[in-house]
Amino acid sequence: MKETVVSGIRPTGKLHLGNYFGAVTNFVKMQYDYNCFFFIADLHSLTTHPTPQDLHGYVRHVLVEYLACGIDPEQSTIYIQSDVPEVTELYLYLNMIAYLGELERSTSFKDKIRSQPDNVNAGLLTYPALMAADILLHKATKVPVGKDQEQHLEMTRTFGNRFNRLYNAEYFPEPFAFNYSENLVKVPGLDGKGKMSKSEGDISCIYLADTAEVIRKKVSRAVTDGGPITENQSKPEAVQNLFDLMKIVSSADTLAHFDSLYNGMAIRYGDFKKQLAEDMIVFNSPIRERIEALSEDNTYLAKVAKRGAEKAKESAQKTIKEVRSLIGFKSF
Ligand code: TYM
Repeated sequence: MKETVVSGIRPTGKLHLGNYFGAVTNFVKMQYDYNCFFFIADLHSLTTHPTPQDLHGYVRHVLVEYLACGIDPEQSTIYIQSDVPEVTELYLYLNMIAYLGELERSTSFKDKIRSQPDNVNAGLLTYPALMAADILLHKATKVPVGKDQEQHLEMTRTFGNRFNRLYNAEYFPEPFAFNYSENLVKVPGLDGKGKMSKSEGDISCIYLADTAEVIRKKVSRAVTDGGPITENQSKPEAVQNLFDLMKIVSSADTLAHFDSLYNGMAIRYGDFKKQLAEDMIVFNSPIRERIEALSEDNTYLAKVAKRGAEKAKESAQKTIKEVRSLIGFKSF
């Protein structure tokens, strides 16, 4: 029996290089070795109150981009979370065993309190329970995600184990975050601080759908500094971030070349950024072309979503039936 893999992405816009290297590139590789479920987390995205038109457009983007990146609907189950309402039932059961204190301690919840103090809704608080429901619904053991999701995986194990103890059953297996490289990935942004993230705005992100022109413009505006003032000095965060991005999209020789220019205080950031932008364009172009082609094909997209929902529902209904029985819901 193949191990089961589950992962999802919130539809809040277009996918960026962080989503790609943190998650999607692993989805593509994993689909040949595991029983994979890759979904579009539209229920999670409701915490930000998108308009119905925006929501539908964003879900469509992610579906197209999953396919454009190489997720094969014949190999994996690709589905839209709201098409499988069984997840909301499991979410309710997990909410009964998720404690207020542990939910309040979640770093992503604390970040949201800071970043959107006017919209601290209960959905944000119980977000980890919904995410746990996504994963436990298919009894997954591996979850390809970026480093920022590690704490959510820890909470998923806590809820699954607590359920098992409460109902005295070895039912849910323990899921772990996964990346093919040794460590989980955090792709930096272009804004000089932190990770690439939509919440930091477009200036932080290179989207898979960005054209060559847009990439050149964004990279040319990326934050740097006045340049090194001693040989072999350590790099400030903004510059290190650009080197980390180069490590992802450029060849090892290119990276070594600019590293040695930096260490010898001979680097010209203009040249460095030009090279970085061109290597991003080479990386992005084939994906962007597939995005454009697939965007036209409504019939195919509808077929993929329908087939995915059917397969995901089959697995979800089996779990829900067993969970109901463990809880003690019995028919007369
Ligand atoms: P989301 O939508 O914020 O991000 C989707 C995936 O992209 C990864 N990611 C990154 N990885 C590395 N560097 C970055 N800069 C970067 N930015 C984003 C994220 O780690 C994630 O893997 N809660 C999840 C969605 C979700 C989910 C799930 C994931 C809902 N249910 C069940 C796995 C399993 C989220 O908000 O990801």
